[in-house]
Amino acid sequence: MLFQKSLDMQGVRADFPILSRTVNNKPLVYFDNAATTQKPVQVMQAMDDYYRQHNANIHRGIHALAEEATEAHENARAKIAKLINAKPEEMVFTRGTTEAINLVAYSWALNRLQKGDEIVSTVMEHHSNLVTWQFLRAKGVTVKHADIKDDGTLDLDNLAALLTDKTRLVTLTQVSNVLGTINPVRAVAKLAHENGALVLVDAAQSVPHMPVDVKSLDCDFLALSGHKMLGPTGIGCLYGRKHLLEGMEPFMFGGEMIREVHLDSAKWNELPYKFEAGTPNIAGAIGLGAAVDYLNRIGLETIRRHEVQLTEHALEALREVKGLQVYGPAAAEDRGGVISFNLADIHAHDMATILDSEGIAVRSGHHCAQPLMERLGLPATSRASFYLYNTAQEVDKLAETLQQARKVFKLK
Ligand SMILES: Cc1ncc(COP(=O)(O)O)c(C=O)c1O
Repeated sequence: MLFQKSLDMQGVRADFPILSRTVNNKPLVYFDNAATTQKPVQVMQAMDDYYRQHNANIHRGIHALAEEATEAHENARAKIAKLINAKPEEMVFTRGTTEAINLVAYSWALNRLQKGDEIVSTVMEHHSNLVTWQFLRAKGVTVKHADIKDDGTLDLDNLAALLTDKTRLVTLTQVSNVLGTINPVRAVAKLAHENGALVLVDAAQSVPHMPVDVKSLDCDFLALSGHKMLGPTGIGCLYGRKHLLEGMEPFMFGGEMIREVHLDSAKWNELPYKFEAGTPNIAGAIGLGAAVDYLNRIGLETIRRHEVQLTEHALEALREVKGLQVYGPAAAEDRGGVISFNLADIHAHDMATILDSEGIAVRSGHHCAQPLMERLGLPATSRASFYLYNTAQEVDKLAETLQQARKVFKLK
């Protein structure tokens, strides 16, 4: 396969020091990017520079360091907002996707939804977009889950059939962290809005890997994690339409989120600060800003193209491994760079151990999507997930090691 030239692979890989280490005396092949991504020196330097040169608490101080730190923090917000075509005041910093979804559950759903109201989701959600809504059952809210088709794509007709005049929210992942399926979020948003429901997009696996535009998706909320897009852990964002965020009550209280406080009352700060109680993860936000710069420099179109090519190459190579079952859509264009698989009846944990002995890092288990595993009738899968720094040679190494595993397990 001819890989497109625009991605300077050597240059990119040199930015990620961890990629040159060995694991079990073998060069590291890092295929666990859906769990978390590696960090380029540019991100580490930005955080280091903040602590070495500008460290101060933000928003409150008049002194130079406080102003510099505040500016850097707010610049980072502007960068992540621009990346998804949102306004800075529509971006609330959170610890990640999980906290962003919880923010909507506590600040929007808990106050608004009533007995009889319905939420529609899908069977392919990560636990953070599943369990979060279960707690609303105590209020008499029903949560329904659209099914998938045999090829691992969303059954849109089934989702449409679940919508009623009681549906208040449709919440779904844009890219499945298990099957790699890319969901037709725009079409879902149209259906949801025609039914008067809002739409929340779990973008943990999409924003890092492809251009995402909240306006063209026409979603109402969108959640993302910085650590899955070259940024540090402990930082993420909730995007919300301004008028929705304005109408929501905070669910965390403390300093920073107030405009005025009296002993028996308080007024909330303006957006997005009213949702950001306490001292935030300043260095994390700055690191995320640097990650956005890095992704923009390479270009998300280019990253997406690279991952499609890598996935296509992987699907071809894995097809050659007898007895290997790959789950999810058949065509690389229809999926993110995530490939879940099982080889004969070798348990996924054993498979991950074999691959690790060759320096290949994959994830194994239920991938925080137990209902999806139940739906697929599987106890577990191994999952290889790619990013911009992965190469076709690494994919070949995976395929070779799987062939060796066949021999070790004496598979026919
Ligand atoms: C689709 C999806 N949603 C949500 C999450 C949760 O992200 P975080 O743990 O960063 O909050 C993940 C993490 O793997 C994910 O893959």
